[in-house]
Amino acid sequence: MTAAPFHMGWFLGNSFGVHGWNDPWGGSLAAEWTRPDMHIDLVRALERACFDFLLLEDSAFVPDSYGSSMDFYLRRAARVPKNDPLPLVPLLTQATRHLGIVPTISTSFYPPYLLARLIATLDLMSEGRVGCNFVTSTALRAAQNFGLDEHLEHDRRYEMADEFVEVVRKLWTSWDDDAVIMDIERQTFVDPTKVRTIDHKGRFFSVRGPLNTARPHDGRPVLVQAGGSPQGRHFAARHMDVVIAALGTVDEMKTYRADMRERVAAQGRNPDDCKVLFLLTPTLGDTDAEAQARYERGLRAKSASPENGLALMASLTDIDFAKFDLDEPLETMTTNGQQGTLKRFLAQGRTLREIAANFRFGFEDVFGTPDRVAAILGEVMAEVGGDGFVINLPITRRTIAEITDGLIPALQKRQLVRSLYSHAGFRQNLFEF
Ligand SMILES: Cc1cc2nc3c(=O)[nH]c(=O)nc-3n(C[C@H](O)[C@H](O)[C@H](O)COP(=O)(O)O)c2cc1C
Repeated sequence: MTAAPFHMGWFLGNSFGVHGWNDPWGGSLAAEWTRPDMHIDLVRALERACFDFLLLEDSAFVPDSYGSSMDFYLRRAARVPKNDPLPLVPLLTQATRHLGIVPTISTSFYPPYLLARLIATLDLMSEGRVGCNFVTSTALRAAQNFGLDEHLEHDRRYEMADEFVEVVRKLWTSWDDDAVIMDIERQTFVDPTKVRTIDHKGRFFSVRGPLNTARPHDGRPVLVQAGGSPQGRHFAARHMDVVIAALGTVDEMKTYRADMRERVAAQGRNPDDCKVLFLLTPTLGDTDAEAQARYERGLRAKSASPENGLALMASLTDIDFAKFDLDEPLETMTTNGQQGTLKRFLAQGRTLREIAANFRFGFEDVFGTPDRVAAILGEVMAEVGGDGFVINLPITRRTIAEITDGLIPALQKRQLVRSLYSHAGFRQNLFEF
């Protein structure tokens, strides 16, 4: 039986930052971190492999939560330095013809009018190939870069995000599709009856409108988010076209998908209108044994250097994990940062050492030749029910090629992913199946 095809995206953590540093396959990547060359190579490879989209992560702070110091992050180039990824977007859409490009923006710090205009501009420039990943921004240090002493409380940030998206959607539809008529005889470029104010007055935002650029393709770009807490899922269910989950097991994926589909239906939407995608970090090799050895080397390296994972987790939760004994049982803790992530993290063991070794940021326990991994992914998707995966790997030109020229052709041979784009637009390809 042929399984239904699924979708593929790529999540570029550390976005327009340092990649391939200290990696024997990194080549010149790290030295060229301020330039867009690797990103352009990446999107060309993703388009060759018919991916749906590239998601560009972002954050606007220098972490100092691990060891109460910036040292670890600066020394290891962990989440810093990092350029603003938004100026990359037009370069990436110019280098491709079908691939969706999804920058990340913060609903806590961007004014909605500026964001609606920025994304509409990028969408119009690329003829409907830009999306938007909405994050509430979880770090205290980020909040302190935008005028706050303390961050807004987690659930309140999601309430604000909800109103933020309501406002930008109103702005994007403040022009009718056919408002721009360019009628020389009537000396009318825009039909004024087709543009109106939005007069939004809410708890968090007051925006008159209308937008001063035209309506984006399809009335809105592809909307994406990845919050795993109940509030994050509610937010996704109300507005999003794509929700991404970082889960380690097939059972978790199944439960998450069923929950999301129920939530989307409860909002009066068709559950198929919100694609549920899962983070995936496969390990590939020329033989299954080689891939397994590589996968096991990765696990050993993780156990030998728990500080790498702990520093990342510290920056996501604002909890200083350097303060705790690695081998003492860990007490329960809460965060105003990434709540869903912390909950999954703490569930991985009794001590920090166990947790750091066991934690998976996505589906990581899959290795083999491209053909073996393709077969496993087909089985996983058949079991979960859909809708696809988002690759999350440390970037080198080698890892890009392993996926786009190794794994994807193996998936295509099994008709598990598309081999050709049917449409020009991002949304049309995303909702084709
Ligand atoms: C695939 C993926 C991509 C994400 N990208 C970003 C990002 O670029 N910037 C950011 O601040 N948070 C990012 N996040 C974090 C989420 O937006 C969210 O804050 C996190 O999953 C915790 O949400 P929760 O508090 O609802 O559990 C990402 C999460 C995932 C799983």
